[in-house]
Amino acid sequence: MRSSFSSRLPWPTHDNALASLRAELRAKGKAILDLSESNPTRAGLHDDADLESLLGFFLKAANLRYEPDPRGILDAREELAADYASRKDLGLPPGSESPSPERLFLCASTSEAYGWLFKLLCDPGDAVLVPKPGYPLFDYLAGFESVEARSYRLDYAHPSGWRIDLDSVKSALDAGRAKALVLINPNNPTGSYLRAEERKALVELCARSGCALIADEVFYGFPVEADRDLADGGRSSFVGERGRSSFIGERQVLTFVLDGLSKRLGLPQMKLGWIAASGPAPELEEALGRLEIIADAYLSAGAPIQNALPELLASSADFAARTRLRLTRNMETLRSLLEGPLSPHRVLRCEGGWTAIVESPRLLPEEELALGLLREEALWSQPGYFFDMEREAFFTFGLILRPEDLERGARAYAAFFERLMKR
Ligand SMILES: Cc1ncc(COP(=O)(O)O)c(C=O)c1O
Repeated sequence: MRSSFSSRLPWPTHDNALASLRAELRAKGKAILDLSESNPTRAGLHDDADLESLLGFFLKAANLRYEPDPRGILDAREELAADYASRKDLGLPPGSESPSPERLFLCASTSEAYGWLFKLLCDPGDAVLVPKPGYPLFDYLAGFESVEARSYRLDYAHPSGWRIDLDSVKSALDAGRAKALVLINPNNPTGSYLRAEERKALVELCARSGCALIADEVFYGFPVEADRDLADGGRSSFVGERGRSSFIGERQVLTFVLDGLSKRLGLPQMKLGWIAASGPAPELEEALGRLEIIADAYLSAGAPIQNALPELLASSADFAARTRLRLTRNMETLRSLLEGPLSPHRVLRCEGGWTAIVESPRLLPEEELALGLLREEALWSQPGYFFDMEREAFFTFGLILRPEDLERGARAYAAFFERLMKR
């Protein structure tokens, strides 16, 4: 008799048409440029001297001892707590406090952190509310826990940017069994930070309905056009800080902030993420105790990366500054190449994060456009339907790309559409 598999994994295991064409072209030796590059280790964000000094932080005798702590090695959590306490960019509202080491949990990645939190908060059949457009991994992460990833909407108005459709959050809550509201601050791929009035409304809604908040802040430290006036194409005038604010230490509702080295230091392969918990006292204590049971069962963060955390955090400000410069310059290049009175394309406002969204004429269905970009221009792209955009045609550009690759990619992208319009 054949084995059967869990219905939590309903997804196809074979490649889609785009991935098959890419494999075919690669087999023929074709070099393909990934327009939506999100892998920092392929984008030259660290120079060789950097990487060598990073490697030095891993040679420690302490790595040979095994003294497991479910929340993670205390020294590492103390450094992380000190790092949060020293940050000037968190824009914390009055009453928030930076996390103590007891409220920090180290794990292998933020993806794993989601799994732990869904286990902590949900029974099978419960729901977590997730943004749409949004990061496509949620269907999987929620599905693995037999939890529904129920979406709420974000609306776009040009050039002011994206806003959360609060009515859609209310309807998603009213549909019942919602145990957590996932906020991505700023969201991927829309690049939108939570606005003060959205934050206030959402915290109130969560407090009223007993729904916890999960704030994914992996891109928080990477503002791009957060404070730019796009009336002039985003090239010059600043309108002042739009009030980015982190959910660290939020006290009104049970809150879990996620971050990790994947984006903070551009080192996803090192596998270190964390959860910072806060909220009203009795609930928070119970959550910490229960989360410790989950963390203790996995003990998934390795000793070498935890022991290297103090030095790594010390170098994170330099990495962030260098990366922000690249993101902003690439965004300017994208606007100068793909926008203008005669351009058929529009670059959506990107307040922060590593991804820009370009809207282009829907001359063909998105998937066919993506296949055409791959076949004719050797460009790998992510069409908007990957992120549940409500209409077509949108494509994402990875703002961490090497500037010369981004420019080459944007020119080839424009040339493809120009040819298509003449056909
Ligand atoms: C919004 C968001 N959260 C989390 C992650 C994953 O980070 P990690 O490598 O820590 O799992 C990503 C990866 O791109 C992301 O876009």
